[in-house]
Amino acid sequence: MSNTTIIINITRLVNVRGQSNLLSGAALADLPCIEDAFLLVEDGMIAEYGAMFELEIKVPQLPKYIIEAQGRFVLPAWCDSHTHLVFSASRENEFIDKIKGMSYAEIAVKGGGIINSAQKLNDVSEDELFNQAWKRLQEVSKLGTGAIEIKSGYGLSVAGELKMLRVIKKLKEKSNLLIKSTFLGAHTYPIQYRENHQGYIDSIINEMLPVIAGEQLADYIDVFCETGFFSPQEMETICKAGMAYSLRPKLHVNQLNSIGGIEMGLNLNAVSLDHLESLTREEIVQLGKQSNNNGNETICTLLPTAAFFLRMGFPDARALINAGCAVALASDFNPGSSPSGNMNLVVALSCIQMKMLPEEAINAATINGAYAMELGNETGSITVGKKANLIFTKPIPSLAYLPYCFGTNLIDRVMIGGEFI
Ligand code: NIG
Ligand code: FE
Repeated sequence: MSNTTIIINITRLVNVRGQSNLLSGAALADLPCIEDAFLLVEDGMIAEYGAMFELEIKVPQLPKYIIEAQGRFVLPAWCDSHTHLVFSASRENEFIDKIKGMSYAEIAVKGGGIINSAQKLNDVSEDELFNQAWKRLQEVSKLGTGAIEIKSGYGLSVAGELKMLRVIKKLKEKSNLLIKSTFLGAHTYPIQYRENHQGYIDSIINEMLPVIAGEQLADYIDVFCETGFFSPQEMETICKAGMAYSLRPKLHVNQLNSIGGIEMGLNLNAVSLDHLESLTREEIVQLGKQSNNNGNETICTLLPTAAFFLRMGFPDARALINAGCAVALASDFNPGSSPSGNMNLVVALSCIQMKMLPEEAINAATINGAYAMELGNETGSITVGKKANLIFTKPIPSLAYLPYCFGTNLIDRVMIGGEFI
């Protein structure tokens, strides 16, 4: 019984599923738990679980390593399906500009925002970029994140985008976290292409994508579809080029305006459509009705810390859930609109500001987040055969206490692949 650990007397084992699937609409409120439970971890994987009264039958011979979890809740680690964790400098100057009254769009026009981050990123070495990103990855894993998607998009040049994606590849190699990589060359138009959009799109398609595919640097393709950034038609061209290399789209749409990104994203069979702060009634209905050709649903990924930080209206999570959508929650960790990768805060804000029930928010930040990275078979729930990525809480009275006590660190320990970090 080498590499075997048993966790006993868990006050509540959360999100226990014999078989998992993506949760849509009303199903999001169903969060199956076992009270007074045990969990067996073998070779980094969940091997068995059950109620304490079943322990003798299910695990006749106890392993040597026993962890006592009295008073504690054990949850699947967070699955953060939308981040820009690789960047080279913070942007608190813009934060001050915003306090003084400038808008996100105004800051972008005067060369701040993404362009500012791109300049900084192109100045640092790949090693330096890796070291900074590694620290952030350690930080978010201690906050309970066990799987994460990371985007490029602060290079905006062939060399810069490849540098970012190679850093993400190295993070994948070195980290025990489950990591997915997304190519976001179409984050904004670099200054030299402001008047020549086709020139930059050509560079993405002819210079970046072939190298990215050749070196297997990305799992997904993303485009920032927004007024002043990329139009739905430009997004279509770029995504189709990526899809020819088997990169499925995960897209930034409807953050600031509704310009047709949702309809196009659904036509492109996107894995997820992310942000959705600005939604029309018709778009909510469309998102609820959709079910793409393969029978997979396009997931609606909401990023409440970005709306919070930019002082924008929050996405209408209730309307999306009522319409039958599969909602996921993610941090959008980036230096401009969400300089925090804390998924505990994301869950709390979803309950406080978007009126999601704690059960809905936890499902959206675990199992649905896993599906938003196509990792639903590997993580996101307590299921035999999934990776033992677990959050151990401090003693808490109830599950609702987690989002209720927002800002208090209620995580005691985090286990990634069967090891405490
Ligand atoms: O998801 N909206 C576009 N991209 C990021 C922000 C990027 C930045 O400001 O650096 C986001 O919010
Ligand atoms: Fe983003």
